[in-house]
Amino acid sequence: MRKMIPINAPQTDEREIEMVTKVLKSGNLTARVGSSSMVADFEQAYAKLVESKHAIAVSSGTAALHMALLAAGVKLNDEVIIPSFTFVATAEAVVLCGAKPVFVDIDPLTYNLDPEEFRKAINSKTKALIPVDLYGLSADMQALSKIAREHNLAVIEDAAQAHGAVYKRKPPGYFADMTCWSFYASKNMTTGEGGMITTNNDESADVLRCTRSHGEKGEYVSFMLGHNYRMPEMEAAIGLTQMEKLPAFLEKRRRNAERLTERLSLVKRLALPKEPEGYRHSWYLYTTRLEDGNRAERDGTIEELRKRGIGATVYYGTPIHLMPFYRQFATHNLPRAEKASEQVISLPIHPGVTLQEIDYIADSVIEVVG
Ligand SMILES: Cc1ncc(COP(=O)(O)O)c(C=O)c1O
Repeated sequence: MRKMIPINAPQTDEREIEMVTKVLKSGNLTARVGSSSMVADFEQAYAKLVESKHAIAVSSGTAALHMALLAAGVKLNDEVIIPSFTFVATAEAVVLCGAKPVFVDIDPLTYNLDPEEFRKAINSKTKALIPVDLYGLSADMQALSKIAREHNLAVIEDAAQAHGAVYKRKPPGYFADMTCWSFYASKNMTTGEGGMITTNNDESADVLRCTRSHGEKGEYVSFMLGHNYRMPEMEAAIGLTQMEKLPAFLEKRRRNAERLTERLSLVKRLALPKEPEGYRHSWYLYTTRLEDGNRAERDGTIEELRKRGIGATVYYGTPIHLMPFYRQFATHNLPRAEKASEQVISLPIHPGVTLQEIDYIADSVIEVVG
């Protein structure tokens, strides 16, 4: 039996081991208040990478979203508009603030929030918007932020999947008030678990730094309600190394994505991922779509690919508004998100996948889908 080609896999080597060892030997594993050296270096380097004034490292992308919403002043009974076709953390962070997630539909070509659907969902309770850069392709941030500004809404970009994406010549975050990143093990760059919030706003950055560690500014004095959302030194050490490798990772993902597109373009039933004019995909996921297929057919296709050792995976099989816990917030059907959830198939293109493996994946897809 062929070894499975996973959908994503962390790419680490001796350099991460060296950096983590350095931290362990230093005895400085975390800093409660103020800056610790690896975390401070990682924040500074990351801020530069994404052209942002501030970067605040935290324990996960979910923590980043929760903190950004708190810093935007989202509270009990406020409404926050989000796409339903995303990872559940986007909605979870809203509910953690006591607010209500308002789910809107996607553009079926990009799988990202449709600006006109967003506009229709705004009312007097709306406080913020979280566009998601799904699969590593930026949401239409300029159009979305223009509407948000007209209604005085905070824009928190969920760029958890978009390290390396470019939109209108800018990295994610240019059109947002705060931008949230994840360094979960599957991501384009990882710290194992971890996250970051980037912002150009000094006041938000102060609040975020304070909230990250029990609302403290000095030792054991809390100025506001906080959390323990700190990033440990070992994770930041891994992050610094991964950041150096990111350009090479992105190049390999792009090479693999382009080869798959070249090979699969003749499979009529399969819609391939698009990179619209003015967008540069970060290729976190290469997501195709069985255009005339239903859920059973799509699931059958995944099973056949898995039998051939290809870690084809569905992101996401249940839109959030249809999940048992989140149904309580659903107000209407979202046909485009629902359809996408029945038809999408993501294929492995991570930097560890060789061109020979890409050809094998393409041959197998052609055999199974026809
Ligand atoms: C779109 C999206 N938002 C939020 C998150 C949450 O990030 P984390 O897993 O680091 O908490 C993830 C990733 O896992 C994600 O893909």
